[in-house]
Amino acid sequence: MPPSPTSPAAEAAAPPSIAALLDAVAQRFRQAGIEAAAADARHLVGAALSLDRAGLLSARNRQPSAAELAAIEPLVLRRLDREPVSRILGRREFWSLDFHIDGSVLDPRPDTETVVQGVLDHVVDRHARYTVLDLGTGSGCLLLALLSELPASEGIGVDIRHDAAVCARHNARRLGFADRARFIVGNWGSAVLGENVHIMVTNPPYVSGHELRTLMPEVAQHDPRVALDGGEDGLDAYRALAPQIVRVLRPGGLAAVEVGRGQASAVVDLLAKCGLAIAEVKADLAGVGRCVVAQNRVGMRSETG
Ligand SMILES: C[S@@+](CC[C@H](N)C(=O)[O-])C[C@H]1O[C@@H](n2cnc3c(N)ncnc32)[C@H](O)[C@@H]1O
Repeated sequence: MPPSPTSPAAEAAAPPSIAALLDAVAQRFRQAGIEAAAADARHLVGAALSLDRAGLLSARNRQPSAAELAAIEPLVLRRLDREPVSRILGRREFWSLDFHIDGSVLDPRPDTETVVQGVLDHVVDRHARYTVLDLGTGSGCLLLALLSELPASEGIGVDIRHDAAVCARHNARRLGFADRARFIVGNWGSAVLGENVHIMVTNPPYVSGHELRTLMPEVAQHDPRVALDGGEDGLDAYRALAPQIVRVLRPGGLAAVEVGRGQASAVVDLLAKCGLAIAEVKADLAGVGRCVVAQNRVGMRSETG
């Protein structure tokens, strides 16, 4: 078997150019059945060489040093072991903000940006001062993305995991929102007493028992189970959350709740039964109903509009 192009044996024979190295890594990913093989190779080689996309292009004919080759191989092996690139690099872009992630939190998904947009679509005055509550905050991505768009607002993120709250607090500090965001460890809204919440967002665990058993290794082995497991039908967290949303939300306040594929109508029913008025089911970029937006019945426009 020929040596891998990033292995010491291959390097001794003929050091590859960075372009050849990128091709070789992408080929190894392809052979392992990894879908975005070329992009993943570019991200990992770029990270190991501290080069962005443009830097990689201009360095493509250069030969990497032995130290650079040695830095690349462990990252490649982790990806071959089906660890997502974002986990290997410890960061994920969400709403154009750079989030630190670790093993305590869900890797934020692009679909979740629908929740941010769902809130912004219903807030007329972005410069008003709102209190935003994020239940199941994980990395803090929903709360901090909203604070980036609502410059006079403050927020609270709640998570059942202490280490997730630590991660979210770290992100708030890094991204410059520490003075407007605080994080609490607790069970959904039970940790929140007497707050005057104008906007509540949540992306709860909603994977059903059947789906849990069929998840890709990137998700099953690397996202925390408590961030995924929604009980046998996937709706356990919504049942717990619906009455709490009504309790914490002030009259006229807005709730934006992420749902899984096919769950929108069940979640609409649960929220409506608790007295919330459904404003919209917002679709994600793939056209899947992804976010239920609801209002506490009294005077929404005068409260957040
Ligand atoms: C699907 S993840 C969402 C994380 C983040 N908001 C996002 O969108 O990427 C669900 C989060 O809810 C948290 N969680 C699960 N059960 C909880 C509970 N009973 N109370 C508070 N947080 C909970 C998990 O730890 C996890 O961080």
